[in-house]
Amino acid sequence: MAYQDVYAGWKSDPEGFWMGAAEKIDWDRAPSRAYFDQGPAGEWFADGMVNTCWNAVDRHVEAGRGDQLAIIHDSPITHSYRGITYRELRDRVASLAGALRAKGIEKGDRVIIYMPMVPEALEAMLACARLGAIHSVVFGGFAAHELAVRIDDATPKAIIAASCGLEPGRVVHYKPLLDAAVDQARHKPDFCVIFQREQEVAELIPGRDYNWHGFQYGIEPADCVPVEGNHPAYVLYTSGTTGQPKGVIRHTAGHLVALNWTMKNIYGIDAGDVFWAASDVGWVVGHSYICYGPLIAGATTIVFEGKPVGTPDAGTFWRVIQNHRVKSFFTAPTAIRAVKREDPNGELIRDYNLSSLQAVFLAGERADPDTIQWLEDQLNLPVIDHWWQTETGWGIVANPFGIEPMPVKKGSPSVPMPGYDVQILDEAGQPVGPDTLGAIALRLPLPPGTLPSLWNAEDRFRKSYLDHFPGYYETGDAGYVDKDGYLYIMARTDDVINVAGHRLSTGAMEEVLAGHPAVAECAVIGVADSLKGQMPVGFLCLKKGTATPDEQVVREVVKRVRDQIGPVAAFKLACVVDRLPKTRSGKILRATMVKIADGEAFKTPATIDDPVILDEITTALQGLGYPQR
Ligand code: COA
Ligand code: AMP
Repeated sequence: MAYQDVYAGWKSDPEGFWMGAAEKIDWDRAPSRAYFDQGPAGEWFADGMVNTCWNAVDRHVEAGRGDQLAIIHDSPITHSYRGITYRELRDRVASLAGALRAKGIEKGDRVIIYMPMVPEALEAMLACARLGAIHSVVFGGFAAHELAVRIDDATPKAIIAASCGLEPGRVVHYKPLLDAAVDQARHKPDFCVIFQREQEVAELIPGRDYNWHGFQYGIEPADCVPVEGNHPAYVLYTSGTTGQPKGVIRHTAGHLVALNWTMKNIYGIDAGDVFWAASDVGWVVGHSYICYGPLIAGATTIVFEGKPVGTPDAGTFWRVIQNHRVKSFFTAPTAIRAVKREDPNGELIRDYNLSSLQAVFLAGERADPDTIQWLEDQLNLPVIDHWWQTETGWGIVANPFGIEPMPVKKGSPSVPMPGYDVQILDEAGQPVGPDTLGAIALRLPLPPGTLPSLWNAEDRFRKSYLDHFPGYYETGDAGYVDKDGYLYIMARTDDVINVAGHRLSTGAMEEVLAGHPAVAECAVIGVADSLKGQMPVGFLCLKKGTATPDEQVVREVVKRVRDQIGPVAAFKLACVVDRLPKTRSGKILRATMVKIADGEAFKTPATIDDPVILDEITTALQGLGYPQR
């Protein structure tokens, strides 16, 4: 059936559409209906009983896939490779879940997972799901302070961490970061479980820390605990406008139904196929498409511990695709830009046999047409951009490759997926016509698998997403739809920036900068970057009488952001200026500063207090090398 029919079928009967999709899931008690008009934005399959781990692991063993690889760990950083079958995965997860249960973890308890790209990270997620415990994975590139903020918000009973992570040329010492975070946090976990990696064995704190293997010894494996369809499967924190991250909740049943639907219909993946998302378990892509999606579908997933370039070279992606016979590959445009920069003529690509590959999927940031074109030329395969967010958990707008590949329009992630009624609204909340820029909003209710609320923050959920345009979910992105119904994403409408596919808050960075004793006022903006999409740049106004040299303050604030938010913020550029450009009412003109940095034409805002400051900003940016040529 063609895309238009599928989309129209959903629109005319959403209940029937999602109940049909739900048939692919094993229920302990089938839901009586799909949509429940409850909670701030509706819920899905709320009266069903189901277990995520059963659907992602055990049922495939029961169905005869026990000997198929569930996970392949490929680590060019440690020069190692290992496969885990579905049967092994079931046994390992049941044992870990049993050990967690023996230490008191029950349905509804929160467990923070702070781990690098090792299969044990997925096992920890699945063990929580097996017990109905709610996991919250924290990305390894975040510093102790960010982990502490999440500990205080999620109040976990346990934290599962690894002794270390491995970045090219650098061991990331997870254990000291974990200890510092627990010290900083007001909430203290009952216990921690440490997966010791051979690259660094961490010292354990007696009475608090348990060794991953040791604490499973002699343990009774745990069975899957059925949970209500609207029981939270996980909470994943993402950047908002302030330093306090938003805890996106994912309900169990909608997550299962929606991800399973996407594996076939978006990614063209069946049970037995190999699917690879080169992201990190700390991000939503890692949750949906390294861990849950491929496993729910009975496919083989790849856990890749490496980088697109430098581990050891720009041919790594193609080696992994060849060696593991990857059928669909998902990565971020920035990764392809990095590969293209190192191997512009695709010479390394031709070293490998990529006959297993059917398509490449890009998401996480805008896919620029040049990058798509380059990859298409190199691979002679569909390169498919799709647009979504941590909040939605799966593609809002995509090219439905598994249903029917639509003609690609470069620069557009294509068309809405069933479940999503995408509208472009003007400031008054009225839908606008084709080719007109506006706020991108989704008519409520959102489909299964999307966020029902924010953890501990229902008011913030309403304020951030629902209140501005009643009846809609506000995405925070701006764009337009063309006459053929293709969406174009143009910009964020808030203070979120996207650095190498990582979503970061300039507001959070400003909070860190403002904490420096010499800083009177500051602004952080995202400027266009040819590799990472955007890079943060800080502007500092110092307190009168500051004796510290400007360069030292800059060095210190760079270090502060690295120490408090983490290396992933990639905050390396800042400058001292006398004044910031503001409106007469005192609002910093960040958007104008971005235009100057990007070398775009701009109109001096009529409300500006003193236009001369824009010249000072231009000079400061030139000193930092912007606009990039
Ligand atoms: N743990 C600890 N530190 C981490 C980390 C992790 N999991 N991931 C990244 N970092 C650190 C890096 O070591 C680097 O530190 P440095 O300042 O000491 O060099 C910093 O965070 C920035 O990392 P990264 O964004 O990886 O930049 P890079 O310059 O090392 O590499 C790219 C550039 C383009 C190759 C890289 O950004 C990349 O692979 N991007 C794709 C990311 C992606 O898949 N995103 C999709 C999310 S859906
Ligand atoms: P995250 O929640 O980290 O996945 O980030 C979501 C945000 O990244 C979106 O709101 C967009 O701003 C941006 N984004 C993700 N995918 C795309 C895409 N395909 N095109 C343009 N922007 C994207």
